[in-house]
Amino acid sequence: MALGNLKNRDSTLYNCREVTLENRPDNFLRDSWYAAAWPGEVGQAPLRRIFLNRPITLFRDRAGQAIALSDRCPHRLLPLSYGTVKGDAIQCGYHGLQFGRDGLCTHNPQGDGMIPHNARVQSFPLAEKYGALWIWMGAPDRADTELIPEFQAFGDPSRYALATGRIVVGANYQLVTDNLLDLSHVDYLHPGLKSRGDPINRREVRQDGNTVWSMSWRYGALPNTSMQRFWPADKAGDMHAHMRWDPPALMLLDVGMGEPGCADSAAFSRLSAHLLTPETETSTHYFWAFRCAAGASEELKTANGIGIQAFANEDRPVLELQQANLGLAELRLLDRGLLASDAATIRARRVLQQRISHEALAAWQHATSLGVK
Ligand code: FES
Ligand SMILES: [Fe+2]
Repeated sequence: MALGNLKNRDSTLYNCREVTLENRPDNFLRDSWYAAAWPGEVGQAPLRRIFLNRPITLFRDRAGQAIALSDRCPHRLLPLSYGTVKGDAIQCGYHGLQFGRDGLCTHNPQGDGMIPHNARVQSFPLAEKYGALWIWMGAPDRADTELIPEFQAFGDPSRYALATGRIVVGANYQLVTDNLLDLSHVDYLHPGLKSRGDPINRREVRQDGNTVWSMSWRYGALPNTSMQRFWPADKAGDMHAHMRWDPPALMLLDVGMGEPGCADSAAFSRLSAHLLTPETETSTHYFWAFRCAAGASEELKTANGIGIQAFANEDRPVLELQQANLGLAELRLLDRGLLASDAATIRARRVLQQRISHEALAAWQHATSLGVK
């Protein structure tokens, strides 16, 4: 049910489903950094997003520092994002309570102005790193920015420009991970990107700690239409497509082409970031970024225009059909009927489930030590 009378606001932002979902047991990793926004999306106007079933409002203070607060006023639960930013605080649009960076109420315009003792909202650690704005959804004292996987290629605006965007997919984020880690679907799902008949000659899955690589090569292959922007259409070369995955769902794709026999590192390479943040159990924010050379306006425009078109038009419908065909409990049953190309997705799921289980165990042990039953 959407809230009524939303002035100029987009009513779809205020769908109330998360309020009922919030206290449901879920299967999210909380002690982790998630992409929250591209930095330019967050300014003086509050931005509402839902992450891991939690409504969050994002805005910047006068110094330009980004702030993330729970998007529910503790008084009558109106989304704070329905209000306005006043200096370094956000003012609720219903009765005017104001909340600062730490979530504490800083101003009560009602009555004698006393601040009710429980007038506070949860605040969430944020970090701007590698060209993205990250949010920590777990225990704040464990929010170490060194835990953000390395996306160095995206962190130097003097050398590179980024084409960025976000797509909301109506499917669980693990289904989207499966899609991105197993690129064998390209030949079947993406007519515009499929190879020109050259088979994958080599496939490899590597794991180093919690990081999983899904790697493939086509030797002596002709470039597909996407690669033809960078490589002569009639010239054969060695193509590679390597996806790196870190929990919970942070991926770096390196697609490249080089002279036959050359090492991957000597090939022309195109890097893109694919950062998934669960919105709910059945919807996902897919943040994508393509790295382009600084000043390469044509490349940037092309990347913006077609970079993610295939995903939006061809992958997203498939993912949403899968989700519609699937109960949440069935997600783990996708381990049935495995193909060779599923090796990386299975490893990634195992790593993720281990992290989630450890986190749940630690929370249970903590609760037990406090005598909570
Ligand atoms: S609902 Fe926010 S001040 Fe009343
Ligand atoms: Fe795809």
